[in-house]
Amino acid sequence: MDLRCTMGLSTTLFVMALLLSGAASMKSQAYFNKTGDLPCYFTNPQNISLDELVVFWQDQDKLVLYELLKGKENPQSVDANYKDRTSLDQDNWTLRLHNIEIKDKGLYQCFIYHRKSLQGMIIHQNDIDLSVLANFSQPEIMLISNRTENSFINVTCSSVQGYPKPKKMNFLLKTMNSTSEYDAVMKIIQDNITGLYNVSISSSLPVFPETNVSIFCVLQPEPTQTELFSQPYNIDAKPPQPPLPVPDNVLLTALPVLLFGVCGMVVFFITLKKRKKKPGPSHECEVIRVEEEESEQAKERVENRVPERSDEAQCILNISKTDSGDKSATHF
Ligand SMILES: *[C@@H]1O[C@H](CO)[C@@H](O)[C@H](O)[C@H]1NC(C)=O
Ligand SMILES: *[C@@H]1O[C@H](CO)[C@@H](O)[C@H](O)[C@H]1NC(C)=O
Ligand SMILES: *[C@@H]1O[C@H](CO)[C@@H](O)[C@H](O)[C@H]1NC(C)=O
Ligand SMILES: *[C@@H]1O[C@H](CO)[C@@H](O)[C@H](O)[C@H]1NC(C)=O
Ligand SMILES: *[C@@H]1O[C@H](CO)[C@@H](O)[C@H](O)[C@H]1NC(C)=O
Ligand SMILES: *[C@@H]1O[C@H](CO)[C@@H](O)[C@H](O)[C@H]1NC(C)=O
Ligand SMILES: *[C@@H]1O[C@H](CO)[C@@H](O)[C@H](O)[C@H]1NC(C)=O
Ligand SMILES: *[C@@H]1O[C@H](CO)[C@@H](O)[C@H](O)[C@H]1NC(C)=O
Ligand SMILES: *[C@@H]1O[C@H](CO)[C@@H](O)[C@H](O)[C@H]1NC(C)=O
Ligand SMILES: *[C@@H]1O[C@H](CO)[C@@H](O)[C@H](O)[C@H]1NC(C)=O
Repeated sequence: MDLRCTMGLSTTLFVMALLLSGAASMKSQAYFNKTGDLPCYFTNPQNISLDELVVFWQDQDKLVLYELLKGKENPQSVDANYKDRTSLDQDNWTLRLHNIEIKDKGLYQCFIYHRKSLQGMIIHQNDIDLSVLANFSQPEIMLISNRTENSFINVTCSSVQGYPKPKKMNFLLKTMNSTSEYDAVMKIIQDNITGLYNVSISSSLPVFPETNVSIFCVLQPEPTQTELFSQPYNIDAKPPQPPLPVPDNVLLTALPVLLFGVCGMVVFFITLKKRKKKPGPSHECEVIRVEEEESEQAKERVENRVPERSDEAQCILNISKTDSGDKSATHF
C-alpha cells in the first residue's frame, strides 16, 4: 500500500516536472568561436545513483551531442558534427559546446532517463534555446573624396564579422554648437562560410570650411546591445587668410618658368658684360617680380644664383604680389 502510494506520488511529480520544463525553454547565449552552455537543470532530488541514469543532449534535428551512460561518456551515439566539441560539467549538469558556429544556434533538449524505473522513464527534460552572437568590429571611417567646391565630402564606414544583422548604422557630425545625424542605407554582406555579416554605409556629408568638425560612425547592433562608435574623423577649419589658395600643381608648373627666367637673366647679363666694357650702375639693375606664394626654396635659388654669376651687377630682388609667374618671363 505504502509503496504504491509513494510510487504514484512520485510519478505525478515527474509528470508535473515534465510539463513545467516543457512549457518554457531556457535561453542561453554564446559567442562565435567561443564556448556555449547547455544546462540541464537537474537537481537529482532522489539522489539516484549515476549508474542508473542515462543523460543525453540532442539538437533540433535529434542528433545527439553527448550521452552519459553509467557515469561515463558514450561516444558511439554522438553525431559527427559534435565529436570532440563537448564537455560535461557534472556538478551542475551543464554541457559545454566549444567552437560555436553561427549554425549552432537553435533549440536543444536535455533528457535524463532512469534506467531502472519502469523500463527507462524520462525523469527530467528541458529545452535550451541557444542564440549566437559575434561582436562587430569597431566601425571605421574612410574618406572616399575630399572636400570639393561645394563643401561635401564622401565617406564610407564599415564594420565586420558580426552577428546577427545590426539594427542601424549612421554618421554623426559634431561641431562646436551642434550634432547632426546622417542616416544611410546599410550594405550587408554575409560570409557564406562563417555566416558572419560585414556592413557598411556611404554618405556625402556637408563640411563647411570655417568650422571644425568631427565625424563619428555609430553602429547599433541588437537593440539590447550598446552602440559602437568609430574613432572620430576630424576635419579642421581652414585658416581664413588666403582668399584663393594656389593648388599644388600650379606651383609646380610655375617653378620651371621661374628657373627658365633666371637662366635667361644670367645669359642677358653675360652678353651685356661682353658688349659694354664700362658698366654703368643704373643699367644692370633688374627688377624681378616673384609671386608671393612661391616657395622659400624658389626664392633662395633666385637670391643665391644671381650674385654668384654676375658679380659686377647689383641686382635688387623685388618680391611683390603678381598674378602669375608669366610676367617674370616676359620681362626679359
Ligand atoms: C577562433 O579563435 C581562435 C583563437 O581563439 C583563432 O585563432 C581563430 O582564427 C578563430 N576563428 C575564427 C573563424 O574566427
Ligand atoms: C556550471 O558551473 C560552471 C563552473 O563550475 C559555471 O561556469 C557555469 O556557469 C555553471 N552553469 C550553470 C547553468 O549554472
Ligand atoms: C546520495 O547518495 C550517496 C551514495 O549513493 C550518499 O553518499 C550521499 O550522502 C547521498 N546524498 C544525499 C543528499 O542524500
Ligand atoms: C562582446 O561585447 C560585449 C559587450 O561589449 C562584451 O561584454 C563581450 O565580452 C564581447 N565578447 C567577445 C567575445 O568579444
Ligand atoms: C585629401 O586631402 C588630404 C590633404 O588635404 C590628403 O592627405 C588626402 O590624401 C586626400 N584624400 C583623398 C581621398 O583624396
Ligand atoms: C560623392 O557622393 C555624391 C552623392 O552620393 C555623388 O553624387 C558624387 O559623385 C560623389 N563624389 C565623388 C567624388 O565620389
Ligand atoms: C556657435 O555658437 C557661437 C556662440 O553661441 C556663435 O558665435 C557661432 O556663430 C556658432 N557657430 C555656428 C557654426 O553655428
Ligand atoms: C568581411 O570582412 C573581413 C575582414 O575585413 C574579410 O576578411 C571578409 O572577406 C569579408 N567578408 C565578405 C563576405 O566580404
Ligand atoms: C561562397 O561565395 C563565393 C563567392 O563569394 C563562391 O565562389 C562560393 O561558391 C560560395 N560558396 C558557397 C558554399 O555558397
Ligand atoms: C579648430 O580647432 C583648432 C584646434 O584643433 C583650434 O585651434 C581652432 O581655433 C578651431 N577653429 C575653430 C573655427 O573652431
